[in-house]
Amino acid sequence: MEEFTFSGEWMKDDILYLKGITPEIITEMRSFEMTKRDVLIASYPKTGTTWTQELVWLLRNNGNLTQALSIPVYERVLYLEYKQEDSKSGLEQKQIEAGKVKIIVVIRNPKDTLVSLYHFYGNMHDSGVFEGTWDDFFELYKAKHVIYGDYFDWYSSWLPHIEKHNVMLVKYEDMQHKLPDVYNDVARFLDDPLSYPNKADIIEHLTFDRMRRNDMVNYKNISGLDLKSSPFMRKGIIGDWKNTFSDEQSRLVDKRYHEVIEAFGISLEFE
Ligand code: A3P
Repeated sequence: MEEFTFSGEWMKDDILYLKGITPEIITEMRSFEMTKRDVLIASYPKTGTTWTQELVWLLRNNGNLTQALSIPVYERVLYLEYKQEDSKSGLEQKQIEAGKVKIIVVIRNPKDTLVSLYHFYGNMHDSGVFEGTWDDFFELYKAKHVIYGDYFDWYSSWLPHIEKHNVMLVKYEDMQHKLPDVYNDVARFLDDPLSYPNKADIIEHLTFDRMRRNDMVNYKNISGLDLKSSPFMRKGIIGDWKNTFSDEQSRLVDKRYHEVIEAFGISLEFE
C-alpha cells in the first residue's frame, strides 16, 4: 500500500481531530441540562445528520420553508460540541433549563457511512488535509483513528437507550424509501403537528435532488471545509460501498455489524 500523507496539524498523536471540538466543551457538556422542547440529534458523521436536522427543524418551526431556504442549517440547528473560530460553541449558545430532552439517534449502514466519511475527509481543511487513499482511510478506521471514533463503539453507547420513551431511532435507509412515513413518525415522537398545510412541499424540500441544490444545507462558505473534493450532498444512495470496499474490508465490517448492531436486534439495509 502507498504511504498516505497529511499536511498541517491533522495528526495529533496519530488521531485525526477537529479544531472546533475542545476538551473544555466536552467537559461542560457532561453537566449540561436541556429544556423540554429541546431535541438532541445523536448521529455518527455521514449517517444523515443534515437530513434529520432539516426535517426536525421544519417540524419544530411550523414548516417554515422561507427561513429554511435563507438561513444555513448549521445556524438553525446547533452542534453542541463544535465551536467555530470567533464564535460561541453550540453549548454556549443554549439556555440552560431543567427538563428531559428528546433524543433522535440516526443510523446508516456502516459501509456507506464509512465511504461517505472517506470522501468527506478529502474536503476537511480545518487543521490540515487528508491526502490518503480509501485503503489508507480504512487502516485509520481499523485503528479507530477517525473523527468521532469508531462507528461501532459510537453505536454501542447509544443503542442500549433506544427503547426509552424519549429516544427514537431513525434509519437513513428508511428516509430513502419512505420519507413521508419517517416524517409522520418523527412528528408523532416530537408531539408536533402531523400535517402542515405545506407538508407536500416540505417532503419535496427534503428530497436529495432539492437538498443537493439548496445552499443552506450544503455547508458552503464555512471555514475548514473545502468542497472541491466532493459536494456535501455527494451521492445520497444506498450501496455505494460496493464500488469501494474490498471483500476483506467488507467481511471485517460485517463481523462487527453482527456483533454490535444485530446484537441489539437492529438490521440495516446495505443495498
Ligand atoms: P453520501 O456522501 O453517501 O452522498 P451527514 O449530514 O450526517 O454528514 O450525512 C451526509 C450524507 O447524507 C451524504 O451521503 C449525503 O449525500 C446524504 N444525504 C443528505 N441529505 C440527503 C437526502 N435528502 N437524500 C439522500 N441522502 C442525503
